[in-house]
Amino acid sequence: MIDLSQTGSGLDGYALMTAQLEALLSGERDFIANAAQFSAFIYHELEGLNWAGFYLVKDDELVLGPFQGKVACVRIAFGRGVCGAAAASRQTQRVEDVHAFPGHIACDSASNSELVVPLIKEGRLIGVLDLDSPRTGRFSEVDQRGIEALAAVLLRASDC
Ligand code: SME
Repeated sequence: MIDLSQTGSGLDGYALMTAQLEALLSGERDFIANAAQFSAFIYHELEGLNWAGFYLVKDDELVLGPFQGKVACVRIAFGRGVCGAAAASRQTQRVEDVHAFPGHIACDSASNSELVVPLIKEGRLIGVLDLDSPRTGRFSEVDQRGIEALAAVLLRASDC
C-alpha cells in the first residue's frame, strides 16, 4: 500500500499507479468491468480511504455504480452534495472537511474528507469518481492531479 500523502514522493507514486492501472485495464473495453477493477485497485492501493467508487449519469441524475466500502446512497441529484456539485460544475471537488460543505450527503459517518472527479469523455459527462477518507484533509493537490490522471486512464481504456 502506498501512502502518497505522507511520503513526499506523490508524483512518482501516482506515475507508478498509472502504469499499473494501464496494465490492469488493458485488453478489456467494458466500462463497468473496468470501473469495478478501478475501484478495487484504488481502494486497496491508496492509504486512508473508507470508500472509493462511482456514480454514473442516468436520466439526469447520478446512480450508484461499482464501488468498494460500506453500502451507500443510490441516487444523487445534480447539484446535491459533493458528488452532485462535481457533476453540475464539471469541476473536481476537493473537500478538506465534508462537514463544512453545504448539502454534504453523509453516507458513512466515518467520512471526513472527500475528492470527487467528474468523468468527461468527448464532452459528455459519464459520471463521477468519489473517494472518501476518515482523515480530514486527506487529499492534497498532488493527490488531486494523480487521481485525475488515473480517472483519465479509465476513460481512455473503456468504451463509454
Ligand atoms: N458524500 C457524498 C455522497 C456519496 S458517499 O460519500 C459514497 C456526497 O456528498 O456527494
